[in-house]
Order: sequence, then structure tokens, then C-alpha cells
Amino acid sequence: MLRSSLTSATRRGLSAAAAEPPTKKVAVTGAAGAIGYAMLMRIASGQMFGPHVPVELQLLETEQGLKPLKGVAMEIKDGAFPLVRGITQTADPNTGFGDADVAVLVGARPRGPGMERADLMNANAAIFAVQGKAINDAAKKDVRVLVVGNPANTNALVAAANAPDIDPAQFMAMTRLDQNRAMGQVAIKTGTPVRDVERVVIWGNHSSTQYPDLSNALVNGKPALDVINDTKWVREEFIPRVQKRGAEIIGARGASSATSAASAAIDHIHDLYVGSGDAWQSLAIRSDGSYGMDKDIWYSVPCRCPGDGVYERVLDIPSPDEYSAAMMDATRKELLEERDAVKHLLPAATRKQAGTKPARKKRAKKATA
Ligand code: NAD
Ligand code: LMR
Repeated sequence: MLRSSLTSATRRGLSAAAAEPPTKKVAVTGAAGAIGYAMLMRIASGQMFGPHVPVELQLLETEQGLKPLKGVAMEIKDGAFPLVRGITQTADPNTGFGDADVAVLVGARPRGPGMERADLMNANAAIFAVQGKAINDAAKKDVRVLVVGNPANTNALVAAANAPDIDPAQFMAMTRLDQNRAMGQVAIKTGTPVRDVERVVIWGNHSSTQYPDLSNALVNGKPALDVINDTKWVREEFIPRVQKRGAEIIGARGASSATSAASAAIDHIHDLYVGSGDAWQSLAIRSDGSYGMDKDIWYSVPCRCPGDGVYERVLDIPSPDEYSAAMMDATRKELLEERDAVKHLLPAATRKQAGTKPARKKRAKKATA
């Protein structure tokens, strides 16, 4: 009796092991920083890829960052997370990105009070040229890259431009934090749980020119602008608040947002891989000319995420009205100026043509062959 139940338990264990999904190798840069610290435990606990997907954490820091990183790695080990299959700590980008499925690029200087994110261009953009090259050389060819470090959109452009063998559509910058902020403000204004707020869109740059757009948003299935019924609030309070929320947080805590940024990065990658059905998610991706935007800027647009690393632009939406068109244009112009400012970091290499959907099945097979 005991023998046979042990045997079936062993069998169950063996079949569970056989059914285990493949381990995701996740590279995180700036892993010992404030955002890294807030994000790693959540990746380790399964919140990024789902509760059954094992993860290997590849943590990249500067040489000086390796000491605090050691402490972070000790804490992850002390968390006894069943999904963690390994932790790499390194200052070498090629090791950090080695064979990575996903790279979250956080490592960069944050801004202080009174600065705009674009003021970080000189300090940070060069980091992303180096890391783009290393991703190109060391990561899986179907890697998905999320840039968090500021100025995030233009850093994504720089990283992608330095990775000629990887489809630029696989590089994204994070505007999910802005979307979450906008949804939170609408929920508060309408007295509705965030769950019932949908289709809020962030257009353009993760900066104070971004356009948080409620034109298509729904609250409890009804047009949000009708439910709110207060254009003055939308234009004079909601939009500027979301645009400047990062600075408001720096003013209040004396440091830039970290937990909410980590949470948004988890949301972004979770929805990309696990999927979020018909929901709209704002992703700053390489413009392919849709919505009348210039090509080759990383412009945030609404996407659907069916899962498995794929996104699809939401194209079946009404043309913007005059106000929205002007707002979308202002942030487009800022991205063009930022692109000019980093020209020296953009090799004129032959680019692969990016599609709306990053090619995956074929590329994945090739990459793992
Ligand atoms: P932090 O200073 O606490 O941490 C940054 C970490 O990056 C440090 O540990 C540093 O050693 C490391 N680092 C620097 N250069 C590196 C490199 N070349 N390789 C690897 N690691 C490197 O800063 P933080 O609060 O974690 O913020 C990080 C970045 O994220 C900043 O640029 C900040 O402005 C940005 N940010 C973006 C968003 C967003 O929504 N996109 C939100 C919040 C913060
Ligand atoms: C944010 O939006 O909170 C971050 O980009 C940090 C910042 O500098 O505002």
C-alpha cells in the first residue's frame, strides 16, 4: 500500500517535472539599484511569467554595484523561491545578456529635482549603445528587450541601432507606468475600481510631452469622457498630472519612483508573455509609420498582447480630433529632437525591417538550434 502510493507520488512528481515549462533567462541591468531591488523578488516569485515558469536571473551591475548586488542575491536566496534556477552576478554585459530570453534595461542614472528626463541623455545614452551591442552578440536572437532607464524611448532606439542582428521591433521602452498612473487617476475621479477602467492610451515619449489620451477610454464599459463629463479636469488636471507624475514623486520622496516603476515593468513583461487578451496596453515601440508617425522613433502606442512575446498595434481606432492630433504631434517632435541628439550613437548599419509582430517561431527555432 505504502509502496504503491510512493510509486504513484514519484510518478506524479516525474510527470510534473516533465511538464515543467522551459526556464526563462531574464537579464536585469542596474539590479542593485532601487528599481532592481523592488523588481527582483517579484520576478523570482513568478509574477513576471506566471506561477509555473522557472526563471534564471542574470544580474548586471557596474563594478562598484557588484558589492550591493551580492547582498541582493543573498536576499533572493533567502527568499527560497521554488522557481529560481540560478542567479548570475556580473559586470560583464556579454555574460549578463548571455542567452537571455528577456532583458530589462534599468541600469542608468535617475534624474534629480528640477531635471527633465532628457537631461540624462549625455549620462545614459552611451550605456545603451554598449548594451545593445552585447545583446546583439550574446542574447537569444528572439530576445525581448524592455528599456526602463531614462530617457527610455531614445535609449531603446540607441540599443536597437547597436544590435543589427536583432529585429528592432523586439526592443521596447516602458510607458506602462504612465498608463497605470493614468488609469489610477481616472479610477479615483470616477470612484471606480481600476479594474473597470480600460483603453487608456499613452502616446509618444515617456516624458512631460507624453499624451495620456482618454478619447477611447471606457469606465464600466461607458465612454470615460462622458462619465467624467469635465473637459477642464481632463485637460488642466489629469493630463498635466500624468505627464509630470515622475517629478511629483521625486518632489515628495526625494528619489524617483521605484516600486511603481518595478511594478509596471512586471506588468509589461507579464502581459507580453502571459497575454492580456483584448485589453489595450501602451508600449513604446519602433514606429513603422502607423498613425502617421515618422518611422524609427520609439513612440508609445496602444497594443494588444496575445502572449508568447507578441504585440499587435491597435489600428482600428477613430482618427484623433484636433486637440489629440496636436498633443500627439508635440511628443513626436520631442522624440525627433532626442533622436538628433544621439545621432553619434546610431551606427548607419543596414537595418532589418521591423514588422508589427516580432517574428518569433522561426527566429526562436533558429536561435535555439
Ligand atoms: P538607481 O540609481 O537606484 O539604480 C541604478 C543602478 O544602475 C545602480 O545600481 C547603478 O550601479 C546601475 N548602473 C548604472 N550604470 C550601469 C551599467 N552601465 N550597467 C549596469 N548597471 C548600471 O536608479 P533607479 O531608481 O533604479 O532608476 C534607474 C533608471 O530608471 C533611471 O534612469 C530612472 O530615471 C529610470 N526610471 C524609469 C522609469 C520609467 O517609467 N521608464 C520609471 C522610474 C525610473
Ligand atoms: C518616472 O516617471 O517616475 C521616472 O521616469 C523617473 C523620473 O525621472 O520621473
